[in-house]
Amino acid sequence: MATRWFAALVLAAGCATAADRSEVPRWTSRAIPEARGDVHTADGRRIAVRYPGWTTQDFGRFRTYAYDDARPAPAVQRATPPPDLVGDASRGRALFLDRAKGPCTGCHLAPGDDVWPAGSVGPDLSTIGDRKLTEAYLYQQLWDPRVTFPSTIMPPWGAQRVLTPQQIVDLVAYLQTLRGPAPPEKDPDRNPFTRRKPVGFGDNLDPTNNPAVVRAEDAETLWNARGPAGKSCADCHSGGGRKALRGVAPHYPRYVPAYRRVMSIEDFLAVHAPETTGRELPVESADNVDLGMLIKMSSDGLPVAVDTTSAPARAAIARGQATFYKRVGERNHACADCHTPERGAGKFLGGRLLGDVTTGLTRHFPTWRTDRAEPWDMRKRFQWCMTPLGMNMLPADSIEYAELELYLTQFDNGKPMNVPGIRH
Ligand code: HEC
Ligand code: HEC
Ligand code: HEC
Repeated sequence: MATRWFAALVLAAGCATAADRSEVPRWTSRAIPEARGDVHTADGRRIAVRYPGWTTQDFGRFRTYAYDDARPAPAVQRATPPPDLVGDASRGRALFLDRAKGPCTGCHLAPGDDVWPAGSVGPDLSTIGDRKLTEAYLYQQLWDPRVTFPSTIMPPWGAQRVLTPQQIVDLVAYLQTLRGPAPPEKDPDRNPFTRRKPVGFGDNLDPTNNPAVVRAEDAETLWNARGPAGKSCADCHSGGGRKALRGVAPHYPRYVPAYRRVMSIEDFLAVHAPETTGRELPVESADNVDLGMLIKMSSDGLPVAVDTTSAPARAAIARGQATFYKRVGERNHACADCHTPERGAGKFLGGRLLGDVTTGLTRHFPTWRTDRAEPWDMRKRFQWCMTPLGMNMLPADSIEYAELELYLTQFDNGKPMNVPGIRH
């Protein structure tokens, strides 16, 4: 009887999802090739096509946000330390600090002047050896912490084959050496629990401070330029690039009936520009970002006002929310792990203070990235947040990202647009 009930529930759930997905049309990407998430095979190796300088590793083994990726979350794995392996604490320490391989310091503080910058997303492990935890417990914790903490944000390092049994044994040996009392702290900034919170980057709308302002203003040239079809934006939208579309951007992303999907300004331009002017304006091209920035800037000060009540908006927000909480990729992370106050938000991930989705992360996008020297729209930020965590990115203009962006943007409703932002 119980099994039958269960089967019926599963069927019902399956139908609901299928119906939901059928509302989402197939979409052919209009993004630049580096932003489409394509994976090629060359000399028998799978190579991911991404932006210059980004990893080309293919993470195809791990699930993504694609609505048609129905792979389940990785199963929780039990593991015991192999009896023939001997741990080496100094190798374990090196791994603990190695950001690329085992980024434990991203979330955990440990002793040492070279431990910098440590994060506070996980507990301070400076004296974990004093707790006399067994090797078996610690091995399991690193292999797959979900056995003890079912909804933890700590990745299952062994279960996902990020770390080998030998590496985990080395880390356990290192953790066991961490005995108190911890030495007095010389530098309060070393310790993420006492570190000062970073302050802003000055006035983001001052062109001498934010190069993106100049980029956006220069897009006025693009606004006035005739495309191959003989038309310019200015021909149909009068009043000049800085004013003509004032009041439009606060309503984006929105469901656009003509294309049966949710679109950001950037998504819309990639279709609208070729249709009206003959000019290609692919998503993530500099022209697309700059023109999008010009249009959004013209609404600075106006309150964000995305639709949250129509039926298509509600369905899209529900899917966007599911994406936000879906654990994906090699590290089995969700956006929510780092950006909700219940989990990482407000804490340090390494040196970065994690933003809180509920207080709004969107109304300053596109934003100038000081360490990249270019403006980024939200989609590139989404791709950047997840790629190093081992998820193959979706096309920048995918419907999945658009609905995720709408979910995020509704938290900014009522707050003034402030484009372009400036961030590290
Ligand atoms: C994304 C953040 C994150 C990363 C990266 C991370 N951890 Fe954790 N870790 C946590 C959190 C959060 C907890 C607390 C358990 C919980 O409530 O989920 C934790 C708990 C622990 C514990 C304590 C378990 C206990 O019973 O108190 C140990 C030991 C540990 N982590 C070791 C590591 C090691 C070693 C690494 C690197 C291989 C690592 N962690 C990487 C977030 C992280
Ligand atoms: C041939 C005339 C024409 C040209 C050229 C044109 N547009 Fe449009 N545009 C329109 C019309 C008509 C609409 C309204 C479409 C609708 O809402 O269904 C529109 C809508 C828009 C919107 C959305 C407005 C809203 O309220 O949601 C934006 C943004 C936009 N255009 C930007 C541009 C930009 C940037 C260019 C230059 C690359 C451009 N347009 C070129 C005719 C044009
Ligand atoms: C492992 C942690 C982690 C995960 C998972 C993660 N991010 Fe981030 N994210 C960061 C860090 C670090 C920053 C830079 C500091 C900040 O602004 O929060 C950031 C920044 C951002 C910003 C810019 C905030 C601003 O004010 O400029 C947005 C938007 C964002 N993330 C969205 C997402 C979305 C959507 C997802 C899921 C697709 C995601 N992030 C997943 C760590 C993460």
